Amino acid sequence: MASSASRTLLLLVVVVVVAAAVGGVLGGGGEERTFIVRVDADAKPSAFPTHAHWYEAAVMAAEGGGGGGEWREGGPLIHTYSAAFHGFSARMSPAAAAALAEAPGVAAVVPERVRQLATTRSPRFLGLLSSPPSALLADSDFGSDLVIAIIDTGISPTHRSFHDRGLGPVPSKWRGVCSSGPGFPPNSCNRKLVGARFFSAGYEATSGRMNETAEVRSPLDTDGHGTHTASIAAGRYVFPASTLGYARGVAAGMAPKARLAAYKVCWVGGCFDSDILAAFDAAVADGVDVVSLSVGGVVVPYYLDAIAIGAFGATEAGIVVSASAGNGGPGGLTVTNVAPWMATVGAGSMDRAFPANVQLGNGQVLDGVSVYGGPALQSGKMYELVYAGASSGAASSAADGYSASMCLDGSLDPAAVRGKIVVCDRGVNSRAAKGDVVHRAGGIGMVLANGVFDGEGLVADCHVLPATAVGAAAGDKLRKYIGSSTRQAPATGTILFEGTHLGVHPAPVVAAFSARGPNPQSPEILKPDLIAPGLNILAAWPSGVGPAGIPSDGRRTEFNILSGTSMACPHISGLAALLKAAHPTWSPAAIKSALMTTAYIKDNSNGTMVDESTGVVADVFDFGAGHVDPMRAMDPGLVYDITPVDYVNFLCNLNYTEQNIRAITRRPADCRGARRAGHAGNLNYPSMSATFAADGTRATMKTHFIRTVTNVGGGRAVYRATVRSPEGCAVTVQPRQLAFRRDGQKLSFTVRVEAAAPAKKMEPGSSQVRSGAVTWSDGRHAVNTPVVVTWCYYYHHSTTTM
Ligand SMILES: *[C@@H]1O[C@H](CO)[C@@H](O)[C@H](O)[C@H]1NC(C)=O
Ligand SMILES: *[C@@H]1O[C@H](CO)[C@@H](O)[C@H](O)[C@H]1NC(C)=O
Ligand SMILES: *[C@@H]1O[C@H](CO)[C@@H](O)[C@H](O)[C@H]1NC(C)=O
Repeated sequence: MASSASRTLLLLVVVVVVAAAVGGVLGGGGEERTFIVRVDADAKPSAFPTHAHWYEAAVMAAEGGGGGGEWREGGPLIHTYSAAFHGFSARMSPAAAAALAEAPGVAAVVPERVRQLATTRSPRFLGLLSSPPSALLADSDFGSDLVIAIIDTGISPTHRSFHDRGLGPVPSKWRGVCSSGPGFPPNSCNRKLVGARFFSAGYEATSGRMNETAEVRSPLDTDGHGTHTASIAAGRYVFPASTLGYARGVAAGMAPKARLAAYKVCWVGGCFDSDILAAFDAAVADGVDVVSLSVGGVVVPYYLDAIAIGAFGATEAGIVVSASAGNGGPGGLTVTNVAPWMATVGAGSMDRAFPANVQLGNGQVLDGVSVYGGPALQSGKMYELVYAGASSGAASSAADGYSASMCLDGSLDPAAVRGKIVVCDRGVNSRAAKGDVVHRAGGIGMVLANGVFDGEGLVADCHVLPATAVGAAAGDKLRKYIGSSTRQAPATGTILFEGTHLGVHPAPVVAAFSARGPNPQSPEILKPDLIAPGLNILAAWPSGVGPAGIPSDGRRTEFNILSGTSMACPHISGLAALLKAAHPTWSPAAIKSALMTTAYIKDNSNGTMVDESTGVVADVFDFGAGHVDPMRAMDPGLVYDITPVDYVNFLCNLNYTEQNIRAITRRPADCRGARRAGHAGNLNYPSMSATFAADGTRATMKTHFIRTVTNVGGGRAVYRATVRSPEGCAVTVQPRQLAFRRDGQKLSFTVRVEAAAPAKKMEPGSSQVRSGAVTWSDGRHAVNTPVVVTWCYYYHHSTTTM
């Protein structure tokens, strides 16, 4: 059965954003800021003894002989790059940047951007395995030669998840270092945590010297995010992982024997591009195998995107780069980190839930979730319920009512909330901070209610008081019930904490916050690529940070629960390490292909996975190729391989200029051959995405994809194609059979897509998506490749550059 869906997407927005990004590349005004400069390494004039000398001289010349910019201690350079990227970052005026862009040997000048961590803070203490590790891996040394780089907030080196008992010596190829500093003595690394570095020069060049009371100049994690993601990717077995009322269990990462290297780039003020690129550069030089990056992306063309650029250099060096898709869902076009050389990972749920329902005085029970682990409410007692929006302080105004409805700091009137369960609306401040506000105002409990925008997506949090979260529909019922109450008959209720439930149906579902396609940069490439567990994930937590992630939280816990695509990404990073251990010769693209073509789209109720925000069946823009299936990924049968040259051809077919392409790749691009060879959709990607302009003038549109698969199943095999055509489309595969005689053999096929215009009338600016799949099967393997057709009704035909 073909699945179909339609949605309204403001395609125009993308065109405008891209135009603004390109037009304003070097920024207006004369304010100094950080720029990242790519150079042709070979173009260094011999007069300069080192590249750094050349770079400094180039910046000084661009600033007009050194009289322009403010002088930095140790020269104008912030970082120099030589492994993932050739060039440097420096503070300069936009005018100097523009002059530098024209200088000999300079390939590109890109302004710096600031990123945020891709997590929604949903802390809690407690236990149970985040994802069952494979029995195959438990006792062997499998994966112990591999090093996973975690580019994040640093790491807590003393955590039990990073002990090195029973591990062999550090892999001989490792060339990294263990930087020390406050809270991170020189002996912090071991045979598990083999390296640690921190990069703050870009951050401090823009934000000023860091406040060393609030954060530390060392790889130490004072946030918790980096420790959490590192342990998801490669934490050791730790038992028991938790207490405090919820299920105990073993905690372990996906690749428990793999080594970790922490690259701290995220600070209180954000994660700066120039520092992220320095981390990529160091990781490549250090000899890592996988880079895990749970940091949000930005929607700009790849040649302006430092993460895409750093990831390209890493990919060229044979390193798998796994990145979070972002938490901008459930709306369309929200996916980030979309370059085809990265694995873009969305988030799904597991079959585990933490029900904490709200029982109302009128007999209704509203479904809620929570991982609150402290003293419970009094059993059997009904408490008075109050809506925060109706309880603002004495000097009540409309604005105060709004602040109070959100439970913002200082907005609640203690007299109105004392001893009551307070209903707060979701949004603006963090969910944990709302609980703290209610607690400090004297409230006894909290119900966090979604608004319409949040839909039915819920995240379980570790609040500082008894609290639960409910969806938009339940929130409406709750507000209505409270609104109809009187002084004589006040609204009452309580929260029933039911602990941990396993075997929940349906699961997985696509997390409401998980960012969605289509790919705003190149719709020819379906994004996200796949989903992995990212909702309510238990993993390691530093001893110096409270689980709620707010300064007033004095509690300490060894494990914590977070949600976000930040948590989904390291699952794929750890699995990529296991795949590389099993198949050392596979390229990053082959590893990604194995993960994607074996992913599943059915949930444990035998239906197509649903979207948590609506409860309706999800589609490829929500889950990509599907949910990762670790054991099947180990033996995919066939892979779609891609070489760095293929990516260059892809960029040529996006109509990037050769100058733009040089900003990403290391060598000059020659696009003549590539453009003759066809279109960007012909990149040998493990999914196929066709975008047609639906302007009402043509009834049908055609396109075709050429793909080449490599036999990795071991020896002879005959694969036959089955096609599930997207609704209203005719998809044909030629040839329909691929007979492989040996391992490693490559065979090509063509997929033709003929799509009828949507029967339903479309509005300008809207799009309709239909999805299907081509599956190659030899009876033992099923190699599944999504085929997506999107009809876009553009506002202007001249802007169909998407
Ligand atoms: C530095 O951080 C500490 C702790 O957060 C704070 O109390 C102090 O005011 C900050 N100092 C400056 C100069 O911002
Ligand atoms: C799903 O289908 C399989 C095979 O048809 C069947 O064995 C299984 O019981 C079904 N599961 C559910 C939850 O319906
Ligand atoms: C690139 O330009 C060619 C020729 O103008 C056009 O046919 C093609 O659609 C463009 N491709 C993209 C991805 O914009």
